[in-house]
Amino acid sequence: AGELSSARALAGRTVTISAGGTREPLDPVRFLGNRSSGKQGVALAAAALQSGAKVRLIAAHMDVAVPTGVELITVETALELRDAALSAAEDSDVVIMAAAVADFRPAHASASKIKKQDDVADPVITLVRNPDVLLELVRDRTRTGRRQIIVGFAAETGDEQSDVLEYARAKLQRKGCDLLVVNQVGVDKVFGLDQTEVVILDCSGVEPVIAAGSKTDVAGAVISLVSDRLTAT
Ligand code: CTP
Ligand code: CA
Repeated sequence: AGELSSARALAGRTVTISAGGTREPLDPVRFLGNRSSGKQGVALAAAALQSGAKVRLIAAHMDVAVPTGVELITVETALELRDAALSAAEDSDVVIMAAAVADFRPAHASASKIKKQDDVADPVITLVRNPDVLLELVRDRTRTGRRQIIVGFAAETGDEQSDVLEYARAKLQRKGCDLLVVNQVGVDKVFGLDQTEVVILDCSGVEPVIAAGSKTDVAGAVISLVSDRLTAT
């Protein structure tokens, strides 16, 4: 159904996409951040636009330009991203969480620039957990009973205990979203590269889809699966 449904398959639909990486302030000039470029989120926005959707982009820090025609909501922190995402989700047919959301933030952001202190050799930063936005989106959908497709992203490496797909399946279950796009992060698969390969897991248990190529190719595969699901429900 992918090819047949691709042309303007999202006409009349609203798609919200989070992209980039959050920055969690330590003081007015410093933050904890991550290396997410925002490229995948921007590629998704472009693919959704091409399918005729109204696209809202919730952009945390990004290295790339935003395509024209999207409604841009700029955020800095995970808490800001959460507020923007929950509110945007209220009238969205699709929500895609491509942003790298910091799991933790400094417990206290200093109002003034932190100075070196000669009597403190090894200062310690205390972190607190950020809310899980994807989890909250799924809960909100359940609470309101709205029809909505929710997509998560995950970068996994696997380790001695579990392989990448085992971790990813457990994550899909834990989050309760419809699709989970899994990136295997390894030696030759690094943040910021233009070629990528993902496995797209579906909560209904249908066979995972492998999508390889540019981030544009991956975005096309995700948007096509989302369109299929929207027309099927
Ligand atoms: N995510 C989120 N809110 C967070 C952390 C992550 O909404 N506080 C979303 C990401 O945008 C992504 C998905 O959850 O779509 C999976 O992110 P990931 O970091 O892989 O999941 P975590 O539950 O944080 O698991 P881990 O401990 O492996 O980092
Ligand atoms: Ca995380």
